[in-house]
This record gives sequence, structure tokens and C-alpha cells, in this order.
Amino acid sequence: MKKYCILLSELWLCAFFLLTGCAGTKGAEEKKSIRIGVSLYRGDDTFLNNIRGELERCAKDFEQEKGVKVTLDIQDAKGNQNTQNDQVERFLALGCDVLCINPVDRTAASVLIDKAMAAQTPVIFFNRQPVAEDINYRGRVFYVGASAEESGRLQGELVAQAWKEEGLDRNGDGVLQYVMLEGEPGHQDSLLRTEYSIEAVTGAGIEVEKLANAPANWNRGQGAARMNQWIKEYGERIEVVFSNNDDMALGAIDALREWGGPMPLVVGVDATAPAREAVAAGDLYGTVLNDARGQAQAMVDLALALADGRDPGGVVELQEGHYVWLPYRRVDRDNLEEIVRELEG
Ligand code: BGC
Ligand code: CA
Repeated sequence: MKKYCILLSELWLCAFFLLTGCAGTKGAEEKKSIRIGVSLYRGDDTFLNNIRGELERCAKDFEQEKGVKVTLDIQDAKGNQNTQNDQVERFLALGCDVLCINPVDRTAASVLIDKAMAAQTPVIFFNRQPVAEDINYRGRVFYVGASAEESGRLQGELVAQAWKEEGLDRNGDGVLQYVMLEGEPGHQDSLLRTEYSIEAVTGAGIEVEKLANAPANWNRGQGAARMNQWIKEYGERIEVVFSNNDDMALGAIDALREWGGPMPLVVGVDATAPAREAVAAGDLYGTVLNDARGQAQAMVDLALALADGRDPGGVVELQEGHYVWLPYRRVDRDNLEEIVRELEG
């Protein structure tokens, strides 16, 4: 009798898992419709708007190709971690198959991971990199991004080349005087772009002198305000403006134009559409392509595989089991046309 009862309860458990599909490790199941919850740290960020557009395009392409409905629920956390936490709870309550999160505070990712793991929902972080312990310590947690160090180095190489070819040493002292516009404090791209851009320049045997550095939070208006201040303090002494992204570089160019003095060399990162125009116009010497399309494609490929219970390693190149790294590319007048053709063609 006892044996019979155990058998019955096991049968019941099997039936339960079959019916609800929550057998822990889901097998490949080819869903007919997939819901992905996406939370952006700020909806007004230029680069993240590019990511948003590319995500929508990739999802549409997949729908057309496979006849599977993909619903992207994209929310703006407006720079507030509490708002983002609420959005994640709502996504889970709605039964999203996968979450794509661009964390407001990249050191606060573990709270979001706990919520998602409790609901057995995989999470893909992007653009704002959580610490390795958060990504690595549990199952289906991933990061899609690009190496911040690489973007810094490529930007520095642009400047090193210009130093050799363009006669930047305005005061003839053999030293490159620069200012550095930084992104948000604590963001991996601010810290590493700042460090490695200069390392690439000094590594090319160029002596540098930092006149000033300050955060302008990725923002064009704040970039212009900082630059105005530096123009008053250092004016013509500034030979190069390094900027951690294009929006702040464009802000610096706004301020320099208004001033009307001799233009220093300005470099950015992202290769957004307005930055590409500024390179074409000769206002921005160069930038580094932050591949929004590649990152969005990797996120969608990964998300769809996870939603179907397929092996994520079969659709993207996973490093250390959790990371997808997209390469950066340097952009200047020499290859601008080719880049524009690829991005807009
Ligand atoms: C981009 C910036 C953007 C930031 C937001 C960076 O990778 O270069 O333009 O504002 O990410 O997290
Ligand atoms: Ca000099």
C-alpha cells in the first residue's frame, strides 16, 4: 500500500511538471510567443536609444523569419534604481520569459538577480557591467557588452596618430596638454576609457600633461558646461579634448564653436549618427564604434534561445559561460564612408 502511494505521488509530480512546464531544467520547447522585459537605465541616453531601436528591429526580423511572436516590453528606469526594481517585479508578474536589464546602479545587480532566479527567469545584463561575482555565482545570468579597455585604447591610438600627423603641439613644448570629459563616476566605461586612452598615448612615447578632468555624466549639455569652464581657465593651452562618449564630445564642440578660439582636437566614443556627421564635417577628429546593432542582435539571439530552453552557447560565443563581448572599431575620416555604409546602408 505504502509503495503504491509513493508511486502515485511520483506520477502526480510528473504530471504536474508536464502540465506546468516547470521541471527546473526546461527542455527545448519552441514557443509560439515570447515575451522579453527590457529595462533601460535612462530612456533619454543617445546610445541606449540606438540599442532600443536595434532590439526592436532584431525582434521584428525574427518574427518575420520564424513566425514566432516576440513582445518586447521596454521600460525607462529614469535613472532610479527603485523604479527599475519595480519594473523587474512587474515583468516577472507578467510572466516574461527573459529579462534584459541595463542596470541603473551596476553594483546593485544582485537584488535583481535574486528576484529573477526565484522566478526561474534568465537575465541578460547589458552596457552597464555588474561585478563578476553577481554574474558568475548563479545559473542563467549573462552580460552582453564591449570591452571598455579596448575602447579607451582605440581612442588613444587615434590621438597618438594625430599627434604625429597633425601638428597638435600648439605651444611647441613637446608635451600634449589635454582635458578629459568623463562619463558617470563608477561606470566601467568612464573608469577604463579614461585610463586606457591615456595609456595608449603615453605607450606611443608621447608625453602628456592633464590640465583638467571632470564627469559630465554622458550628457551633451553637461559636456558643454564643463568645456566652457575649461576654456575660461586654459583657453588656447588645450591641445586635445578626450571625451568618454560622443554626446559629451559634441557638447565640448558646441562650447568651442561659441568661443570661437583655435579648435583643439576632439575625440569621442560610440559613433552615433550626429557624431558621424561631426567627423564628416571635420569637427570631431574621430570616435570609436560602440556596436549597438551587434549588442542588440546578441541579446535577442541569447534571449530567444533561453526562452526556448536551447543551449545559449549554440547561438552566441560565450566566454566564461556568461559573457558575450562585441568588438569596438575605430572611426575617423579615413574609414567613415565604409562605416556609414555598413550602419545606414
Ligand atoms: C556609452 C555612453 C552611454 C553609456 C550609458 C556607454 O557605453 O558609450 O554613450 O551614455 O554607455 O551606460
Ligand atoms: Ca604642448
